[in-house]
Amino acid sequence: MHRALVVFAAFALGATAVAAQNTTVIKDRKEHFKAMGKAVKPVSAMYKGEEDFDLAKVQAAIGVIKEKAPILPTLFPDDAKTGDDTEALPVIWDKKADFEARFKKLGEAALAAEAAIKDEDTFPDAWKTLMGNCSGCHKEFRKPKS
Ligand code: HEC
Repeated sequence: MHRALVVFAAFALGATAVAAQNTTVIKDRKEHFKAMGKAVKPVSAMYKGEEDFDLAKVQAAIGVIKEKAPILPTLFPDDAKTGDDTEALPVIWDKKADFEARFKKLGEAALAAEAAIKDEDTFPDAWKTLMGNCSGCHKEFRKPKS
């Protein structure tokens, strides 16, 4: 191939890579959120009184939240705004600092809940506070369920 053509081809490829949305990272963040949702589900059932209180399950769910909270804010790069059925709203990238601070707060709330929840009596209030971090962010930064 002519040298100028090679350079052009390389440039065109680069341009395509920049324009394309990073759907791998979108899939990745969805998996992390799903894992958090899955861990939270049985505990929410306890909160509603549909299942018996089980401290080990509560602690396991909090452990997953603690693990995911620092990972999640790294999975919203500028090239992952659209595609792969993302429910992330564009406002995330307009208010990135606020968005990231919410994950930091989620991690801190998980630690606080872990320390506070000792038994069935100390569970509901602390759990509600922790879950407020999820719903608060979803309300502002995630597409409402249609
Ligand atoms: C700082 C903001 C923020 C916080 C805090 C947050 N989420 Fe989310 N969540 C999002 C966004 C944004 C999406 C959409 C991601 C996408 O579709 O790309 C999402 C998606 C989800 C999903 C759907 C994943 C899927 O695609 O199936 C679940 C489940 C979920 N979150 C659970 C939780 C739980 C449980 C908590 C609290 C322990 C939580 N989230 C806290 C912002 C947040």
